[in-house]
Amino acid sequence: MRLIVGMSGASGAMIAVRLLRRLRELNVETHLIITRGAELTIRHETDLEPSDVRRIADQSYEVDDIDAAIASGSFAHDGMIIVPCSMKTVAGIAVGYADNLLLRAADVCIKENRRLVIVPREVPLSRIHLRNLKEIADCGALIVPPMLTFYNAPTTLDDQIDHIVGKILMQFGLPSSMTPWTPSKILSDPIKDAD
Ligand SMILES: Cc1cc2nc3c(=O)[nH]c(=O)nc-3n(C[C@H](O)[C@H](O)[C@H](O)COP(=O)(O)O)c2cc1C
Repeated sequence: MRLIVGMSGASGAMIAVRLLRRLRELNVETHLIITRGAELTIRHETDLEPSDVRRIADQSYEVDDIDAAIASGSFAHDGMIIVPCSMKTVAGIAVGYADNLLLRAADVCIKENRRLVIVPREVPLSRIHLRNLKEIADCGALIVPPMLTFYNAPTTLDDQIDHIVGKILMQFGLPSSMTPWTPSKILSDPIKDAD
């Protein structure tokens, strides 16, 4: 399997790092684009440099390299994940404003009907953000926000990150260590309760 991973300048750089490491373990070939905004968040939120993150991927590209192979529909791949996805990048995808390599690769995914998974991060979400996300979803992209989950009994931030990475991997049929939801017990039995 071959996937494009785009990192943009929303909070959550560590989610992308964990995803890239997991994809490497799974022998998935990764093609990485890091925006300038993402370079800032990598430095701000992790103890890594953008170059360290680039090294986890099989191939990495400059965000201005609009001439790269992945800018073309003729580059065969199995889909793209944008994690984390800023509201600026969401807006660019929603209107087809492909002025950097990440946006162009996403635009190509939509036009070629390939799987596009967006992990948008902002809070609160404005009407503009919601409208743009709906536009992208209407074009077939999967919106997988990094929401907190509690049913898996997380005790650390790492648990939360693993869970969202698992949700992303699921979209491509890839295995994860995510704890699936298991109904614990039926709390009340309406027939017995009626007796
Ligand atoms: C530390 C930091 C955290 C940010 N977090 C977010 C965020 O969570 N969501 C968002 O939409 N923008 C966030 N931004 C703003 C984006 O980085 C900014 O809009 C940038 O232009 C996005 O460009 P890009 O999508 O090309 O990376 C953040 C910026 C910084 C410096």
